[in-house]
Amino acid sequence: MPSNPFKESLISRQRPGPCSLVIFGATGDLTHRKLIPALYNLAVDGELPPQTKVLAFARRDKTDDDFRSELEEANRKHSRQGHDDAIWRHFAESIHYHRSEFQDDQGYASLADRLDQFDHQRGAPANRLFYLASAPEFFEPIMTHIRQADLNRPADGCWARVVCEKPFGTDLKSARSLNQVVSEAFDERDTYRIDHYLGKETAQNIMVLRFANALFEPLWRNRFVDHVQITCAENLGMEGGRGGYYDKSGALRDMVQNHLFQLLSLVAMEPPIGLSADAVRDEKVKVLRSLRPLVGPEQVGANVVRAQYTAGSVDGVVRPGYREEDRVDPASMTESYVALRLFIDTWRWSGVPFYIRVGKQLPKKATEISVHFKATPQIPFNTDAVRGGKNVLVIRIQPDEGIALRFLSKMPGSALRMEPVKMNFHYRDSFGKTSPEAYERLLLDAMAGDATLFARRDEVEAAWKFIDELQHAWHESESPPPMASYPAGSWGPKEADQLLGQDDRVWRRL
Ligand code: BG6
Repeated sequence: MPSNPFKESLISRQRPGPCSLVIFGATGDLTHRKLIPALYNLAVDGELPPQTKVLAFARRDKTDDDFRSELEEANRKHSRQGHDDAIWRHFAESIHYHRSEFQDDQGYASLADRLDQFDHQRGAPANRLFYLASAPEFFEPIMTHIRQADLNRPADGCWARVVCEKPFGTDLKSARSLNQVVSEAFDERDTYRIDHYLGKETAQNIMVLRFANALFEPLWRNRFVDHVQITCAENLGMEGGRGGYYDKSGALRDMVQNHLFQLLSLVAMEPPIGLSADAVRDEKVKVLRSLRPLVGPEQVGANVVRAQYTAGSVDGVVRPGYREEDRVDPASMTESYVALRLFIDTWRWSGVPFYIRVGKQLPKKATEISVHFKATPQIPFNTDAVRGGKNVLVIRIQPDEGIALRFLSKMPGSALRMEPVKMNFHYRDSFGKTSPEAYERLLLDAMAGDATLFARRDEVEAAWKFIDELQHAWHESESPPPMASYPAGSWGPKEADQLLGQDDRVWRRL
């Protein structure tokens, strides 16, 4: 028996009971890179509920052992806390493989048998968590089969829940229809639409920063805030055969509709009346509903810039242009970059622009939110330094997680000269340990029945409603706004700089 693989650990809520986790589409990248390393790390920390079983449901032919050794290799590469053979061996015994087509009734009947066998081994019925990690076109048939096989009906005293991976639909219509299908099998309170950005420590800290500190919240409004920027830069392109998926999606649907809108909601929401999942999500959805719609090519063209990268170099490595990428249509009109100017029509944010930019093949990987405060009156210093040195609060979501505050200081010396200086908080220095990966937190939350960090039905639909108008202007209007370009390795197209330039502002240099 390894030293102490499943040690007791202190967590503030009750540890969830035993659970069978069924992962649909388990041979994919997500399971190897994220889900299994997350479960393994929960086991290392002693947070994985006892007697957890993982059942991988997929179409390829494999034995349990084949599958376990594939996962072991992946875990060695991707586990946050390294790989311990003894802990792995113990953990891997809980992983099993179930071969079936997603549309095969028989596959679900035998799935039910296997889940019953697990319960039998445990000596009592256990909870069931179904994880949709397959290609999205299979979500509907999987849901229908789960319902037909009665797998959504838990035994007395147990629960059955579903976790849906993104993309949750490709537009409002498909999201609604998927919501409908899911709701026929699971109640909303048992439906967990994952957005891994919400699982990031730094995203969770936004509420703490805003609502547990006296310092920031009084200033967090149009009277003091000049504008807000949210940047999500990636220095990768279409590696690993992603071009096929991405070319059908694009930056707006791949990142803005979900991750960036979630960050926006957390930054702009009103204080919730409590910490229940619904209290928090009630406030977040109001932000999305208050987004001023951009309708028609003129409004979209004036407030949104879309672009594709051309050949260039990132970190000294030569990269092809977007249209030359593997599995990308050479005449593609899919954006690899998008910048938006948004307004939230509420009292708090009236007149404050929110600028969002996201793109592939930018110079580095970095996600951050910066809140730019207004300048004080020039009196009594009467110098441009006051205008040039406005306060900026930067929330670094990743990497180098932390928060920085820029303010003006007098330079030492007899003359009155001012320079912007920085107060800087780094998670790694203050807490001395790495934050859990987003999927660790989210899997555990789903098992514990806490949906706070998952998107609710109305949030997803409100986000799609806004995004649909932009897609429509780009792809279905008679005079669509142009597609700009930027060389790989640059910070995006000049048109995005002009978007802020028109307002006499500039993007923050990261
Ligand atoms: C995914 C997108 O949801 O998020 C990817 O589909 C993107 O295109 C990824 O690369 C970014 O996640 P992270 O956590 O690496 O910032």
